[in-house]
Amino acid sequence: MRDAHGRRIDYVRLSVTDRCNLRCSYCMAEEMDFLPRRELLTFEEIETLARHLVRRGVTRIRLTGGEPLVRKGIIDLAERLGRLGDCGLDELTLTTNGTRLPELATGLYAAGVRRINVSLDTLDRERFAKLTRRDAFDQAMAGIDAAQEAGLAVRINALAMRGVNDHEITDLLAWCGTRGFDLALIEGMPLGEVAIDRRAEHLPLSEVREQLEQRFTLVPSLHRTAGPARYFDVAETGTRLGLITPLSDNFCAACNRIRITATGTVYGCLGHDQKVELRDILRTGGAAALDEALDLLLAGKPLRHDFDAGQNAPALARHMSVTGG
Ligand code: 5AD
Ligand code: SF4
Repeated sequence: MRDAHGRRIDYVRLSVTDRCNLRCSYCMAEEMDFLPRRELLTFEEIETLARHLVRRGVTRIRLTGGEPLVRKGIIDLAERLGRLGDCGLDELTLTTNGTRLPELATGLYAAGVRRINVSLDTLDRERFAKLTRRDAFDQAMAGIDAAQEAGLAVRINALAMRGVNDHEITDLLAWCGTRGFDLALIEGMPLGEVAIDRRAEHLPLSEVREQLEQRFTLVPSLHRTAGPARYFDVAETGTRLGLITPLSDNFCAACNRIRITATGTVYGCLGHDQKVELRDILRTGGAAALDEALDLLLAGKPLRHDFDAGQNAPALARHMSVTGG
């Protein structure tokens, strides 16, 4: 699949639910209206769609949410998608808050998952509770332990937030180093109404990098994953640091992905409303109609998002939990 700007699309982020058991303040409002469950794609429909996408050249699928591991039967879905390894899928990964990994890590590994991203913005129990509005730090840490024991490679994802966790990022990198985890730092994006002051919390990662270089030697690396992180080898730890800079250093020119919501809407870009609806087509349409809809999406996929670091108002009404992180 190629879009109108010549970019090859081989990576799909697949949201399996918009629900979450946490309420991170930069991601969600305290009170959220979630989708009625009957509107979600069934596992059969997701499998059909994924198979079709793999046939069209998709080599990597990342399950996201909301929190993907709160979807009932998620291991069954992982197994179904894991089997697409036989017809061209190179990698099935997932992004999770970790809290359900104590129960699910071994099942994910058995389904063929080998790498996961766990979102963890702080190592401070109290700050975690304040940030996520839930007292689940111990559960998340137990989940990270379980993932490691199950043999999953873990990358920690952390939003860098001024006045929230900026003084902690050096410690977070050190902790990741001792655990053998890569760390990806992310600049927060203006998606959906939330209760924080986005402009005040915005922290360009160039600044964080200077701070980290007081203690660590960061060597630019050619390592790439499917996502937008630019990596550094951390000489002292043997692990990597990834920087994801949607605001301070736009990476849209190399975009290789599309995003599918739990109800089968496909978005060309996290920062735009351009989309096609696949659910009805999956229920009635067949392969040719699916192709037609996907081609329409690719033809209109926006060149880039227009997020602005100076903005407090959301660029879009929809939260990250709808399209998946
Ligand atoms: N901007 C950037 N990242 C976000 N996430 C959630 N909301 C936002 C936002 N507005 C992150 C989570 C998680 C991933 C799924 O997306 O922290 O790491
Ligand atoms: Fe849940 Fe992840 Fe959003 Fe936090 S960032 S509320 S863990 S979906």
